[in-house]
Amino acid sequence: MNKDKFLIKGLSGKRILHGSVTVGGAKNAALKLMAATVLFKDKVTLKNIPEIEDIKRMADLLKDMDIGVEKRAEHLYLFTPTVKCKTKFSPDISKHIRASIVLTGPVLARFGKVSFPHPGGCVIGKRPIDLFLDGFKKMGAKVKIKNDSYVIETEGGKLTGATIFLRNQSVTATETFMMAGVLARGETVIKNAPIEPEVEHLANFLISGGAKIEGVGTTTITIKGGPLLSAKGKTHTVMPDRIEAGSFLILGALAGRELEIKKCNPEHLEALTETLSYSGVKMKISKNSIKVFGVVPSIRLKPVDIKTHEYPGFPTDLQAPMTVFLTQVNGESLVFETIFEGRLNYSESLVGMGADIKMMDPHRIMINGPSTLHGKVLESPDLRAGLAFVIAAIIAKGGSVIHNVYNIDRGYEDIEKRLQSIGVDIVRMSEE
Ligand code: EPU
Repeated sequence: MNKDKFLIKGLSGKRILHGSVTVGGAKNAALKLMAATVLFKDKVTLKNIPEIEDIKRMADLLKDMDIGVEKRAEHLYLFTPTVKCKTKFSPDISKHIRASIVLTGPVLARFGKVSFPHPGGCVIGKRPIDLFLDGFKKMGAKVKIKNDSYVIETEGGKLTGATIFLRNQSVTATETFMMAGVLARGETVIKNAPIEPEVEHLANFLISGGAKIEGVGTTTITIKGGPLLSAKGKTHTVMPDRIEAGSFLILGALAGRELEIKKCNPEHLEALTETLSYSGVKMKISKNSIKVFGVVPSIRLKPVDIKTHEYPGFPTDLQAPMTVFLTQVNGESLVFETIFEGRLNYSESLVGMGADIKMMDPHRIMINGPSTLHGKVLESPDLRAGLAFVIAAIIAKGGSVIHNVYNIDRGYEDIEKRLQSIGVDIVRMSEE
């Protein structure tokens, strides 16, 4: 794990960033495809895998379980499933990555058992796994807790299809049961499933390998269990990262003269583009790219209330960068975080930079703008808030230092190089 910090010289509100940034493969899609390779009988090639810390951790976890992971070139990986795999997750690795939980589905379905510690990841409030445990029980598995680890075993080595109604629309629980259902006996029905593009992307990957899945893109997904999947030598390309694209868009709206966000899917970003457009941001949306034109300071941006919601609503993963945007608009905006409690704590640091933000309760903040932000020493609390701090530091007056950059590297590849290329004064330094 690196121990780096960023030094950023703020633009004092100037709109000068220009050029283009290319969006990478989606972290939250790539991690799930990597887990799904366990369900294949042959080698799987994935391209457009982002070179980020969470992917490295997932690759380490797979390798530790004796699954072959080979980097063929930048963003191109070959996965070789094994006939026998270790079914115990390394606590050291899995405690650093929440997405390790999705690996429980394919491992349990293929090898009949799995044991793992409570998964780690971002500190954004409670991250329970009750839906996972309940769903596995419905599929006929026995769940025990031994020495701080969950131990889950199937009867006779196989899961049995079941109907699972998700009390909360959980992305990773849906993906886990979809993968588990692929090799289960009979039919698995997931009800109240979220329709996030990453869920659909995983379903299509499984279908391309021979899985029988219906209802993709709806809230009821039906999976008919069958044999191991086969990639038949085909290469699958990871979809573009909508959160990364959205974060660059917000940066462009605040500090860009003219910035093009390339290789993104604007259809996945409608909640954001509609909100920014309502507020007064000018954009040109094409099929695979968006051009954003920084707002001339004399034009008054309108305040806008946002409420995070499952797709296609406003994504919780863009809530922190959006809050930074709202500190620069004229008037009062409410941010209502409905998915995770504890995901607004970062706003205290924005207050320290000069923002006028009042915490109403753990789920709601009121922002009164515009405020001049001042550079500060900051600590990246989690991946998305970390990037929000980078954006805040870029628009601020004076210099900022952002510690704990590992949290940003978890999700954004070479972020400082891409920001430098559009005119940001940012350097990475070792903490030592
Ligand atoms: N929930 C439960 N019980 C469970 C699982 C979830 O109550 O067993 C609740 C959560 O507490 C939350 C709600 O269900 O209130 C939805 O959480 P979800 O399970 O959908 O979140 P997740 O699957 O753990 C994924 C992304 C997150 C993203 C959310 C929401 C991955 C690896 N993570 O998390 O991404 O915020 O969906 O879209 O796909 C990030 O990338 O920074 C990140 C946090």
